[in-house]
Amino acid sequence: MSTLQEELVTLRSSIEKSLQDVHTSEQAEQYRVHYLGRKGLIAQLFKRLSQLSQEERPAAGEQLNALKTFAQARLEEKLTRLAPRPIEHKIDLTLPGIRPRLGTRHPLLQVLDEIKAIFTGFGFTIESGPEAEDDYHNFEALNIPADHPSRDLQDTLYLDDGYLLRTHTSPVQIRTMENSQPPMRIIAPGRCFRKDTPDATHSPMFHQVEGLCVDVGVSFADLKGAILAFAQALFGPSVKIRFRPSFFPFTEPSAEYDFSCVMCDGQGCRVCKNTGWLEISGAGMVDPAVFGFVNYDSEKYSGYAFGMGVERLAMLKYGVDDIRTFYENDVRFLSQF
Ligand code: DAH
Repeated sequence: MSTLQEELVTLRSSIEKSLQDVHTSEQAEQYRVHYLGRKGLIAQLFKRLSQLSQEERPAAGEQLNALKTFAQARLEEKLTRLAPRPIEHKIDLTLPGIRPRLGTRHPLLQVLDEIKAIFTGFGFTIESGPEAEDDYHNFEALNIPADHPSRDLQDTLYLDDGYLLRTHTSPVQIRTMENSQPPMRIIAPGRCFRKDTPDATHSPMFHQVEGLCVDVGVSFADLKGAILAFAQALFGPSVKIRFRPSFFPFTEPSAEYDFSCVMCDGQGCRVCKNTGWLEISGAGMVDPAVFGFVNYDSEKYSGYAFGMGVERLAMLKYGVDDIRTFYENDVRFLSQF
């Protein structure tokens, strides 16, 4: 029996060794025939089991089976490593490609770009300020007293340490005047925040463009001229403007300004509620008290300021009737502009 035992050991190491030389599927097949084939070396050893005694046979059979399993397992292992990767799809280079969906510039940014281009064309420069503001710039220096309703907790989103999310872009007026001297003509576009419940015309985050012009001899007529020129540049030469007396703590006199309805040309429609006019925002002559906060000589200088809501203008320009669609990021909406 010792010879069969010895042969098993030799065979096992020869299997290991010859597997190292198997690199192609043909070589694998030669290996299979040589060791595992019907007349292969393992089969020949099986035949010799019959020459063993009854007692020796079961143990030797078991060892032979183990060797066979070992040889098969190693072969399979080798074959999977040799197997070419299945080609899942053939690539037809002549087929048209899949076009990636191109984004478009957001309608709010398009209108903002237009507003900026119009005012820079008038000689205004662009300023910016922080969205997280302090009470002083958002309210106090704008002559908004502590008991003014726009300071009410319901409107303002407060942060820690006396900071808040600016409720308008007017604080940029203060920051600009703090840092430079007249003459100045600036616009300040940016995001604003208020504790508003979203509906078709309200959003807790929205955009404004603030305007400020300070120089010697600036009058309300200059303000009207700037607003008219802007309205006509944005909506065409037939747009009219109108000013109604109003109140803002930081301007005196203050006004609200309207554009003739761009939907119906002032004839009266659903959008202008049959008035022929669209309310745009507020404006006025900079209150001397505001100049006091930034140490400007209000005897020498005068100025006008105005606000405008970017969403409002975009809605009018593009005929959008729900402000929320600007923020939903639905490509079907966004790709229309
Ligand atoms: N800050 C005002 C608002 O958010 C808009 C405004 C009104 C701005 C009058 C001005 C102004 O510069 O003069 O409603």
